[in-house]
Amino acid sequence: AVPEADDCGERTCVDGVDLEALARRLGTPLHVYSASRLRRRAAELRAALAGLDALVCYAVKANPNVAVLALMADEGFGADIVSAGELRRSLCAGIASSRIVFSGVGKTADEIAEALAAGIGRFNVESRDELDLLQRVARDRGQVAHASVRVNPDVDAGTHAKIATGKAENKFGVEPNEAWQWFAEHAHRPNVVLDGLHVHIGSQVLELAPFARAFERIAVLARDLLAAGHAIACIDAGGGLGVRYRESHDVPVDVGDYARTLRHALRGFGGRLIVEPGRWLVAEAGVLLTRVIRVKHGARRRFLVLDAAMNDLQRPSLYDAWHAIEPLHGRERERVVYDVVGPVCETGDTFARARELPRCEEGDLVMIETTGAYGASMASTYNSRPLAAEAMVERGRYAVVRRRQHFDEMLAGEQPAGDWQVA
Ligand code: LLP
Repeated sequence: AVPEADDCGERTCVDGVDLEALARRLGTPLHVYSASRLRRRAAELRAALAGLDALVCYAVKANPNVAVLALMADEGFGADIVSAGELRRSLCAGIASSRIVFSGVGKTADEIAEALAAGIGRFNVESRDELDLLQRVARDRGQVAHASVRVNPDVDAGTHAKIATGKAENKFGVEPNEAWQWFAEHAHRPNVVLDGLHVHIGSQVLELAPFARAFERIAVLARDLLAAGHAIACIDAGGGLGVRYRESHDVPVDVGDYARTLRHALRGFGGRLIVEPGRWLVAEAGVLLTRVIRVKHGARRRFLVLDAAMNDLQRPSLYDAWHAIEPLHGRERERVVYDVVGPVCETGDTFARARELPRCEEGDLVMIETTGAYGASMASTYNSRPLAAEAMVERGRYAVVRRRQHFDEMLAGEQPAGDWQVA
């Protein structure tokens, strides 16, 4: 499960870099990303999509570190963004604006204007109100925007309720009926070329069937729209491919099967295909390196208190997500049951309950695995804990890709209310 864990003898390495030495140099908590693993995933996806007119738009939200984005750009990928901030990061990292698609239910006029100014490829539109806004902003700027309708296929992705997006009751997308109306009205919106369909049913999807159902629905809609004389130049199949957090528990969809399902659903479609995976590309490339602050023997339970907390990795507290936890030291030590927790003052600041691990002591290094996606990207400074450092490693070398936040940076912008203004 450890990314690119090549043989380092007694030591634990990621992509040829000894984690013990890295932690001594850069401190903990530390997010570590294997570039080799990222590139391998990118190549696997490219191979699965070979022969299709396909563009991979990496979902920036999974891991927006500029070094990760630059690597994606280098792999020829575009970006799926959901904010002006993600737009700026993507452009900074060298992602071609024509390869950027903009998703999300809450795009503002300013964000739309900024994206148009940057010349992004396409907007995935989620409501009539947004479509009208896109028309107005594009007209005011004297531009023409390409847009896809995000269709809600009413499919159960079989994932955690907080990350399922494809059911009719979710806030995402519109019904096929409404999509039809938008196409029928296209003449009313001369600054929007509505020529695409978009679907995304949820995240950490571990079965092929929900994908197949959603793709079939979108393919049928595309065929019918084409038959009615509308242009469909692009179908965006979204992201959602799940990964293995837990050995012998999570069985991810094979990327080849995923691509075959897509090919089958879209057989006969002559336009461009977009996919927007986030997690699948980055999750397994990352580990969170953390040190044991102390072992606390409670009245009922034994707590392993780490220097990482829910502000560094929210997934366990937010979704009850399971992450493998592995001390770096001797697996020969006797095994003990711990609640693995952080220092934040909430009971929810728990990485694992009743986890059996080799006995740990103060100062030991522990790694939390599969944290490359939705780890650092969801971090906060809760409890006034500075954002952790991030490092990229590749074949025995490392690069700091985000230095640990300083306290003064955390305080920047704040001040006592001395300078009162009349409102
Ligand atoms: N496209 C759209 C429109 C999305 O909303 C998302 C994710 C993706 C693509 C990428 O999905 P992926 O391939 O990564 O599954 N914080 C949660 C996951 C939230 C996903 C949100 N949308 C977690 O830690 O599980």
